[in-house]
Amino acid sequence: QLSGVTTIIVLGASGDLAKKKTYPALFGLYRNNFLPEGTRIIGYSRSKLSDEGFYERISGYMKTPTEEIKVLLSKFLKLCTYVSGQYDVDEDYQRLNKAIEDIENVNNSKEKNRVFYMALPPSVFVPVARGLKNNVYSKNGINRLIVEKPFGMDLDSSRKLGKALAPLWKEEETYRIDHYLGKEMVKNLLIIRFSNVIFGAIWNRQSISNVQITFKEKIGTGGRGGYFDEFGIIRDVMQNHILQILSIVAMERPVSLSSEDVRDEKVRVLRCIPPVKLQDVLLGQYTKSEDGTNPGYLDDDTVPPESNCPTFAAATLFINNDRWEGVPFILKCGKALNEPKTEIRVQFQDVPGNVFKNASRNELVIRVQPNEAVYMKMTNKLPGLSMDTVISELDLTYHRRFSDLVIPDAYESLILDVLKGDHSNFVRDDELDAAWKIFTPILHQIEEEKIKPQPYTFGSRGPPGIDEFVAKYGFKRSTQE
Ligand code: BG6
Repeated sequence: QLSGVTTIIVLGASGDLAKKKTYPALFGLYRNNFLPEGTRIIGYSRSKLSDEGFYERISGYMKTPTEEIKVLLSKFLKLCTYVSGQYDVDEDYQRLNKAIEDIENVNNSKEKNRVFYMALPPSVFVPVARGLKNNVYSKNGINRLIVEKPFGMDLDSSRKLGKALAPLWKEEETYRIDHYLGKEMVKNLLIIRFSNVIFGAIWNRQSISNVQITFKEKIGTGGRGGYFDEFGIIRDVMQNHILQILSIVAMERPVSLSSEDVRDEKVRVLRCIPPVKLQDVLLGQYTKSEDGTNPGYLDDDTVPPESNCPTFAAATLFINNDRWEGVPFILKCGKALNEPKTEIRVQFQDVPGNVFKNASRNELVIRVQPNEAVYMKMTNKLPGLSMDTVISELDLTYHRRFSDLVIPDAYESLILDVLKGDHSNFVRDDELDAAWKIFTPILHQIEEEKIKPQPYTFGSRGPPGIDEFVAKYGFKRSTQE
């Protein structure tokens, strides 16, 4: 933990991300006593707001189920203040700096640590990073900068952004958030893989037929269409959240759990993945729901009328190394689907020379959300006098197994990591580069050739071709489902 006095500065404090994620996560940490002693929080953004007006803005998303927590919230808000200012004006940053100094001086501490959280649109990343470095950087303590995606639009723009930020903030000071790395089940992956001898032995192409990583949301772009249209689902979810999960599923065992050892292995495996080819991609865009109550993507007034932007994508990646050669990693993600679900499904090979009629494969499923679970599909004898088989599950459903289950929010877990100076669950510069290399050619091709996504109905399982797509890569639905 940091010693001395710590100030957390949230840039973009009046925006959506700060309101929905950053402040609730900070409150969660405060409630559970994880903020360093004496921590204060300053919000900064362009909106002119009083402290009270600001509290009103951020309180709506704080969960206060009991009176006791309500009291804690009012105590927490007393630690929060607000400064308004422009993102490119040095004098405004100097006022921010003065506000921080006023707090630091009260505490009379020698070490003055500052954690900057940029909950901002990418257009202002560089001016803000510069304004902070030149005017608000602590000279007597630790400085850390948290950056939210998107980190560029492709390999080139990501490198440009990196080049602009690098002279200002060192890599050791920079924490690129991918909030999926803070999710409980994603953090569990390392443990499942590397502390269970049964998985270590079969985690390879000899035993595994294919791996599917699926991200499904029920909600559409809901009024955010104009923003989403610049990115599309591959940049919004696949290139970061899903690929991060893949890298942990596929990496070699790290030498140690130190952040550099973990990230070295993630980069190594990403570098073994050649760029995705168009033939291995299926794109979709949602149309209105069957009953007409949910509008289609193109019905959003903020979306260009002829937009080809995909709201669904499936892409199959291959990893050229001796563990994985030939094993398809099928990534699927989409909005406006039938259910919200993120899961990893590892499907094993057929049983060689099976003497039973059943032809179902073992599957290890790690459900990231909702209803966190790890379960293994296996074939069992149907109880009774016959030798019939039945597919059943070794089932570790969290809410049944762990009483008083409290799963921390991903942002809470990641902000705590920043406070501890632990980079393991943040994206390193070379990792980002490797991720963009995989997706940049296909993104350009889709845009240049104006490839039309397949329509799918809001609330459906996705484009009609999706079952055929996964079957093409060897995924077999179990026969008794
Ligand atoms: C964000 C995407 O990074 O992740 C959103 O920009 C998406 O489009 C969100 O909805 C999903 O996060 P979670 O934690 O709700 O699954």
